[in-house]
Amino acid sequence: MKRLLLMLVLWAAAVLPLRAQNDDALPALVQLLGQSDDPQFQLDLLKGMSEGLKGRRGVAMPVGWEAVSAKLAKSPSAPVRELAQSLSLTFGSRAALAALRVLLADPKAEADARQQALAALLAAKDPALPATLQTLLRDAAARGSALRALASYDDARTPAAVLEVYGSLPVAERKDALNTLAARTPFAQALLAAMVSGQVPKSDLMADVVRQLRSLKNAEVNAQLEKIWGVARESGEDKLKEIAKYKTLLGAGPAGEPARGRAVFTRTCQQCHLLFGEGGKIGPDLTGSNRADLDYLLQNILDPNAVIPNDYRTSTLETKDDRSITGIVTKQDGTAVTIVTPNDTLVIPRGEVKSLTPGELSMMPEGILQALTAAEVRDLVAYLRGAAQVPLAK
Ligand code: HEC
Repeated sequence: MKRLLLMLVLWAAAVLPLRAQNDDALPALVQLLGQSDDPQFQLDLLKGMSEGLKGRRGVAMPVGWEAVSAKLAKSPSAPVRELAQSLSLTFGSRAALAALRVLLADPKAEADARQQALAALLAAKDPALPATLQTLLRDAAARGSALRALASYDDARTPAAVLEVYGSLPVAERKDALNTLAARTPFAQALLAAMVSGQVPKSDLMADVVRQLRSLKNAEVNAQLEKIWGVARESGEDKLKEIAKYKTLLGAGPAGEPARGRAVFTRTCQQCHLLFGEGGKIGPDLTGSNRADLDYLLQNILDPNAVIPNDYRTSTLETKDDRSITGIVTKQDGTAVTIVTPNDTLVIPRGEVKSLTPGELSMMPEGILQALTAAEVRDLVAYLRGAAQVPLAK
């Protein structure tokens, strides 16, 4: 009981002042860490410190930290070692950054440990990370995270490195690649050029990536998009016409094939929606929805902005180093903004945010059927209206 009380006091001492961006409490906590040999107590202190410093970068290293971190690196407790290392990163220790890069690049290290190393390096915005990430594009176990992480860096070598492996990537990682290439204007220009030359199939371009590309607000990117993708259709009247057009198309042709429709769903919808227990959670679970009703489906797919539940409104965040992120803001305070995109959850420190613009649009993209052939739309609708999961068509 006494210990619990002490812990609470210490926690409050550590967290509250740090939250207020005042790091005066740090040296005292470091001293306490140095004096204790109790791994549980050390862990509590470390947790308090890292909770208080969450989302901050470039915090000055408190006096005594080098010695204490060297001692904690030998702790029998793995969580103590890991937390101490991640705090070293927050304090900008070069040795800690280098050690983590080695761990991240090691294909024989445990997948979890590599993931944590990557998360810590990203949180510290390690300047030497892009080169490591580009090498990891050839490592199937680490490739997806490397692709997502590369969006954080304005590194001129990234587009070529990503485009080189693009053709060999599975569907989910192609999405990661496209989202990263849509995150910055120079990357987007390289992506669109690769689509024009045929290196990346035009049919891989999906509505959510198009929206991300438009959010860059670059005239050259928009002109290319118009050629490859077409113009955005906006008015309510057009929407009614589109719904009528698809109804005719679905009524007239041959019946769709659900197994092929599942493949279309995997490519175009699954990153955001659960159906039959598989998929992402950005949008509502479609399993229990009114799927069997064609009008419901067409209205929601073709006119997602008719009614937008507030939880699903998109915002566009621009970072000071010119990355654009379109997603749902799930949390924000004085320290950081948390934004969920179709393929990632990002915590951006306030100091790196150039602008955050709340949008009027749903996270469900417009024009989603525009990229599909008539046969693909029939297959997709047949799959969506089905009562149960079907095997995926090859
Ligand atoms: C980038 C993420 C994203 C993608 C991709 C996406 N959706 Fe959505 N979808 C959402 C979100 C968020 C909502 C909820 C907000 C809204 O209704 O506008 C939604 C809503 C819906 C709804 C209405 C659900 C309800 O609440 O009744 C349907 C139906 C739907 N989507 C179908 C699809 C289909 C089919 C596809 C693929 C062709 C697709 N969506 C692709 C994010 C997405």
